[in-house]
Amino acid sequence: MLQFDILTIFPAIFDSYFKESIIKRALEKKLIKINIHNFRDFAKDKHKTVDDRPYGGGPGMILKVEPIYRCLANIKRKKKSKIVLLTPKGKTFNQKIASTLSKLNQLILICGRYEGFDERVRKLVDQEISIGDYVLTGGELPAMVIVDAVARLVPGIIEAESLAEETFYKKGYIEYPQYTRPEVFKNLRVPKVLLSGDHKKIREWRKRYERKK
Ligand code: ADE
Repeated sequence: MLQFDILTIFPAIFDSYFKESIIKRALEKKLIKINIHNFRDFAKDKHKTVDDRPYGGGPGMILKVEPIYRCLANIKRKKKSKIVLLTPKGKTFNQKIASTLSKLNQLILICGRYEGFDERVRKLVDQEISIGDYVLTGGELPAMVIVDAVARLVPGIIEAESLAEETFYKKGYIEYPQYTRPEVFKNLRVPKVLLSGDHKKIREWRKRYERKK
């Protein structure tokens, strides 16, 4: 079973997304597990401080290294486990990375916040991942993106057949177009071949309409 451990100071952000649809079913079937850890609980002072001003001056607050370190130390590690830091400076996430991560037993995701984190946090992780060249207010949305893309590749969650035909399953490949009822919408018709019942012709048509991104 693949276990996700997410380190955040905003655990409530994850409440709704993981309680719906495919992720919800995967959790119920115990095909995956998701633990949310609030690293504020690992701050030692009475104000539970997780951030501080940057040495050398400058705007904003920086996440401190110790609460994250202590939170990580408190997580029981499985065999085949990886610690990933979410940061716009990381390697850009794609389907290939999702597939590699889906073969782990444990994926630990650290969500940054504010203006960044103490550079020494980077020493605690195996990999740094970005979900695209833009800056978000924190790593929580990226963590949800990664859990979603990775979890659906875990065997038993989605039919293997659907995964094999979908976009990006092969490098740079875009899936053929799909239609459902009605046959005619305004003046837009479903291609005749798809209504023909001729499976050989349908396969050929789909092959023709696959394309490279
Ligand atoms: N944190 C803020 N922006 C991010 C991004 N684009 N990817 C990953 N983590 C982030």
